[in-house]
Amino acid sequence: MDNRNIILKAENITVGYGEKDILHGASMEVRKNEIVAIIGPNGAGKSTLLKTIFGLLKPSRGTIFLEHENITGLSPDAIARKGISYVPQVDNIFPSLTVKENLEMGGFIRKEQTAERISEIFRLFPVLEEKKHQRAKELSGGQRQMVAMGRALMLDPDILMLDEPSAGLAPKFVSMIFEKICEINAKGVSIILVEQNAREALTMAHTGYIFVTGKNVLHGIGKELLENPEIGQLYLGG
Ligand SMILES: Nc1ncnc2c1ncn2[C@@H]1O[C@H](COP(=O)(O)OP(=O)(O)O)[C@@H](O)[C@H]1O
Ligand SMILES: [Mg+2]
Repeated sequence: MDNRNIILKAENITVGYGEKDILHGASMEVRKNEIVAIIGPNGAGKSTLLKTIFGLLKPSRGTIFLEHENITGLSPDAIARKGISYVPQVDNIFPSLTVKENLEMGGFIRKEQTAERISEIFRLFPVLEEKKHQRAKELSGGQRQMVAMGRALMLDPDILMLDEPSAGLAPKFVSMIFEKICEINAKGVSIILVEQNAREALTMAHTGYIFVTGKNVLHGIGKELLENPEIGQLYLGG
């Protein structure tokens, strides 16, 4: 595969919680402007990889490079300032704050541009402007996911990491969230997308990675992985 324009590289990552390793030498690369989908069974370590890239877990082995800088072990705050945003699967909004307050919280380290960024996010998610004074907990699941993505975009990231953004959403919202991800990507943001909706994710992604029991077992062009009959049977429900 084309090795130019790699902006993020996780190499041979071993990490876990306490004594127990969950990732065993996992690797992944992201090129500029691409959507990378990470799929695989529950418990494979997909969320653990995102947490490690964002500095929430410190790997015992392996290195994470952003461009050519080794960012392994930096704090989440430092990593956010370097241009990586992360939307965790759960607890990704402040339920009691309004939509607008949630977005303001997302922009806390770049205060001077807050108003401008909020306008841009309202252009991407017009429904959030209509509801800007409502508390986030009063919104639908799909709208709460938009708030979470909007918050992550407040820092104008180069890379956006999304952990199962379509989980639990009605089909209509699933396709809407996927369309928004493509729109964000078209503005020049690289995306790392962890998904249970594997078929949809691989259709949309430039590159797909399949994770099984703490390792990347296969990667390739998203659509080619989809057409691979073995993968279809094992991971896409036939
Ligand atoms: N905070 C935690 N403490 C201990 N073990 C955890 C924690 N989070 C996840 N795990 C374990 O790590 C493994 C991988 O989890 P995870 O990365 O969430 O997988 P995936 O996102 O692929 O479903 C699972 O066996 C899970 O039980
Ligand atoms: Mg997960």
